[in-house]
Amino acid sequence: MVTNAQSFSPIESPLRGCLTVPGDKSISHRAVLFSAMAEGTSHLTGLLDSADVRSSIAAVGALGAHVDVHQPSGETALSGTIRGWGASGPHAPAGPIDCGNSGTTTRLLLGMLAGYDVRVTLVGDASLSRRPMRRVTEPLLLAGARIIPDGVDHLPLTIQGSSRITAIDYVMSVASAQVKTAILLAGLHAKGVTRVTEPALSRNHTELMLPAYGKQVMIDGLSVSVEGRVGGPLVAGTQDVPGDPSSAAFILTAAALKPHSDVTVEEISLNPTRTGFLKVLGRMGSALTVTQTGCIGKEAIGDVRVRWTDGLRACEVTREEVPSLIDEVPVLALLATAAQGVTVFHGVGELRVKESDRLSSVIDGLVLLGCTAWAQGDDLHVAGGGPVKGATLPSKGDHRLAMTWALAGLCLGVETQVEDFECIDVSYPRFLSDLASLVRGGSFSRGDA
Ligand code: S3P
Repeated sequence: MVTNAQSFSPIESPLRGCLTVPGDKSISHRAVLFSAMAEGTSHLTGLLDSADVRSSIAAVGALGAHVDVHQPSGETALSGTIRGWGASGPHAPAGPIDCGNSGTTTRLLLGMLAGYDVRVTLVGDASLSRRPMRRVTEPLLLAGARIIPDGVDHLPLTIQGSSRITAIDYVMSVASAQVKTAILLAGLHAKGVTRVTEPALSRNHTELMLPAYGKQVMIDGLSVSVEGRVGGPLVAGTQDVPGDPSSAAFILTAAALKPHSDVTVEEISLNPTRTGFLKVLGRMGSALTVTQTGCIGKEAIGDVRVRWTDGLRACEVTREEVPSLIDEVPVLALLATAAQGVTVFHGVGELRVKESDRLSSVIDGLVLLGCTAWAQGDDLHVAGGGPVKGATLPSKGDHRLAMTWALAGLCLGVETQVEDFECIDVSYPRFLSDLASLVRGGSFSRGDA
């Protein structure tokens, strides 16, 4: 018997209308951390209110930043102020910092703490404690931080930072925005220029946001540099957070799957390092309109409309475009089951070290749904166009899998049960009510979908 599973049955009417989705998770984490490092009081609006961002908020509070954020009545985002520790630096927390499920909190904190004379222990939940940390501790060790115990690849671990950290010139073996950001944050404390080079461009929110906190960032192809110890600490800023394209991807995929749907998601980040999934949606034959409406800071924002079309077709997703859609592979794989032919996602090995082993979890789930999917090396293949059957699907505590398997039940004409659906609170707590707002007379919510 399945415990703690939520059922999803096919929604009866098409999805129609406009909505906004919650604030971007990556931008929210950065706004919280950079504000905590800054001298003065930063004003933040539109922050994502989710378990992951709350992990970052609690962490900087434990380190001495004064956080006053709340949900204004009638809104679902967090707004408020953070007074950073600035030149005086963070203080040692009373105990270990719990990063929950959040890899971004963990890796960005490690980089941030590397340049302060402080010792901090980081812990996390079972999923986070399995995720690799050497990719970030290795460059931080080279810069002069200590990681205790020696050579560990996983949480829990302790970092002993140092204000005498040195600048490094580091070539990353994987494209990772978390690692890139950690190295740059450490570099802000090192004398001289810290440079990090990645094999492909990962999301660039750090590069776009640091100047708003008074720090210049130099970009040369795939290399990003900062000069440390110039101009004092970060200076407080004002940040508004655009809608999260990774959350929007679930709504837009639902519209692409559910016949006769017509949905517009408004004011999401259209940062090209995040919108690879829109290109893939278009290549598969979805009727897609993208309209840039402006910018928030240096982030382009705009509206995306998807109208359902019959006859989606399989496509190839290249290795180069994977970083721009890495979090959307599970939901794009579900979309691929409705497309004629075999869709191939090249070079998605990084999926193995996300909140779950998403490469095998996606394949296992699609096979339970009666589809054909397989891995060949680091490539994911999904055959589309065949019949789909109802199934009970484990979320593995992974928010993006839980939402993907919910969409299978809501949009593919079969029933699904999704185990541990509550884990969606990590990134998109109001996913079901947002979807329901697009369904005529729709009011399904958690517990009665
Ligand atoms: C994130 C970067 C990505 C992404 C994660 C959030 C970030 O991971 O998968 O959900 O905010 O920097 P990588 O560090 O592997 O790029």
